[in-house]
Amino acid sequence: MAPTRWGFVSAGKISNDFKVALDTLPKEEHQVVAVAARNLESAQNFAETHNIPTAYGSYAELAAQKDIDVVYIGAIHTQHAPVTTMMLQAGKPVLCEKPMSVNSREARQMIGLAKENNIFFMEAVWSRFFPVYKKIREIIESGAVGEVKAVTACFGGNISHIPRVKERSMAGGSLLDLGIYVIQFATMVFGGEEPEDITTSGHLSDGGVDEIVTVVLKYSGNRMATLLCCMSAVVANEAYVCGTKASLKIPNFWCPTEVISPDGTHEFPLPPPEKPLNFKNSTGMRYEAMEVRRCLQEGLIESPLMTHAMSLQIAGIMDQARKVVGVVYDQDKE
Ligand SMILES: NC(=O)c1ccc[n+]([C@@H]2O[C@H](COP(=O)([O-])OP(=O)(O)OC[C@H]3O[C@@H](n4cnc5c(N)ncnc54)[C@H](OP(=O)(O)O)[C@@H]3O)[C@@H](O)[C@H]2O)c1
Repeated sequence: MAPTRWGFVSAGKISNDFKVALDTLPKEEHQVVAVAARNLESAQNFAETHNIPTAYGSYAELAAQKDIDVVYIGAIHTQHAPVTTMMLQAGKPVLCEKPMSVNSREARQMIGLAKENNIFFMEAVWSRFFPVYKKIREIIESGAVGEVKAVTACFGGNISHIPRVKERSMAGGSLLDLGIYVIQFATMVFGGEEPEDITTSGHLSDGGVDEIVTVVLKYSGNRMATLLCCMSAVVANEAYVCGTKASLKIPNFWCPTEVISPDGTHEFPLPPPEKPLNFKNSTGMRYEAMEVRRCLQEGLIESPLMTHAMSLQIAGIMDQARKVVGVVYDQDKE
């Protein structure tokens, strides 16, 4: 099988980590053939660091390059919709960083375009592809925890100084950056079922974005998910799946290497990075890259593990929660 040829949009922090993650996979399977940044020098520096043959000073040049199988979009949230649209219109399959959009309206447009043109498109909810998530699904399906009644998860850190997190104009706030992970965890465990009710409480930061938010999802059959995200305090960063017989604990649930279950701890270590990483456990992005390659080879336009419907459900929950907290982005007014 020919290698999957990646084009990168942006030369920022997560792009660095995704390239390091790709480097843990066989070169005959994954190659990065070009990188584009808003500024040519920055693209050239990234290309030099990561041995990428072509660097562009605009995203449009990458969109025009022929020998690219899939584009990875590592730009900030507000760029996801416009740049994904540019790439899909150029016929390029896309893996777009989370959150795939600022709101559901953008998400619907992006997914509509991918479907209309029959092109692969996926939101990079990398957690879903970790071996630990497969193990969690297997344990739940085996009945070892009984009927799942509750999910709890919290995710946070003091990251309120980071411009893209604190600025409303950059779609900052805890929900889009961190909340997406606790929400995707709950919706994964409950199999994409629509919650009967969503209750939210939260506080705005001085900069007018959602600083700390709790979201409670009420499901049929006396089941609940209680979720917390916070951009100003260090929290436990754990998730629990609570069943009628036992519970599962998942430390670092957004990029986990272990699940603690009734029959012991199941460990899935990650390969070490060959270059420095910006974020925790980023070599685990290799699993979403493997899934993208599989989907492309099989001619799928979405992954069954992170479908378009799942992305839309998560975006809808975040829209509702953000509205309660009182955060309105410019994109919401369009
Ligand atoms: N999967 C994960 O674990 C994970 C972890 C962290 C972040 N992320 C996601 O990745 C995305 C990027 O995060 P990051 O930490 O890598 O961000 P970053 O390094 O601050 O910025 C990424 C890129 O966004 C572009 N950019 C920055 N400021 C901009 C502005 N004012 N206007 C237009 N474009 C701008 C730049 O692209 P150019 O290089 O083209 O100039 C920059 O390199 C976010 O959406 C975030 O949610 C995911």
